[in-house]
Amino acid sequence: MDMREYVKKVNEAADYIMKEISESPKVAVVLGSGLGGISEEAENKKVIPYPDIPNFPVSTAPGHKGELIFGKIHDKSAVLMNGRFHYYEGYSMLEVTFPIRVFQLIGVEVLIVTNAAGGINPDFEVGYPMIITDHINLMGDNPLIGPNVDEWGPRFPDMSNAYDKNLRRLAIDIAKEKGIKIYEGVYVAVQGPNFETAAEYRMLRRIGADAVGMSTVPEVIVANHGGMKVLGFSAITDKGDPDNLKPLTAEEVLENAEKAGEAMARIITEVINRL
Ligand code: HPA
Repeated sequence: MDMREYVKKVNEAADYIMKEISESPKVAVVLGSGLGGISEEAENKKVIPYPDIPNFPVSTAPGHKGELIFGKIHDKSAVLMNGRFHYYEGYSMLEVTFPIRVFQLIGVEVLIVTNAAGGINPDFEVGYPMIITDHINLMGDNPLIGPNVDEWGPRFPDMSNAYDKNLRRLAIDIAKEKGIKIYEGVYVAVQGPNFETAAEYRMLRRIGADAVGMSTVPEVIVANHGGMKVLGFSAITDKGDPDNLKPLTAEEVLENAEKAGEAMARIITEVINRL
């Protein structure tokens, strides 16, 4: 896509949203598969379905809705993205990250991302959340390829603090206070849509990953490019154990995501409270 055209489309979407809302959200939360529960925490909600927003893509994945929920969490203005766009659905990287650019333009400063992921660290048990410390991009693509939009961010963005250290510290402190079990680790993003073979899980472990999924990395790259601070969580939904690999279904992933999602929602609402 022509970048000037893309910039115009993002601006139209952002302008529409700014007319619909009374206060610009400082924090955005991307709700991953089975992780929509946090939307119950928001008060004074204003829901905007994706089809109402000019140029916004429309989501197709199971367990994913398609709406932005604007509201207050602990008196802080937030926007919850209920339904994300996956590369495996056939969206381009620019489409996958379209909402993140819109968030940047409406003034979001902190992006909280969540996802469902396979656990590759042998110490991980399913049904628990992991704070993402860093990522590996194995998607074979990048949302920043093409002409750089200089008003959005630098040509060669720094990724040394891609998942903000202070926000991670805050999340860990909150989990400790609440007695919530949580892991920390590296998230690797693959294209999907198939789950991994045993040999692939083995490789991903060897290259330093603790969890694997099919999302998040494009959004986090764009958020960093756009100067946002990022906090990320993976719900560990299955064990990618190469020596004892069991058949895996999307239903099982959703079920375990919901379990981890309860703990994640409690942590995220308190993180927002203390921002
Ligand atoms: N691999 C990739 N994506 C996933 C997995 C997995 O094992 N579990 C949940 N999303």
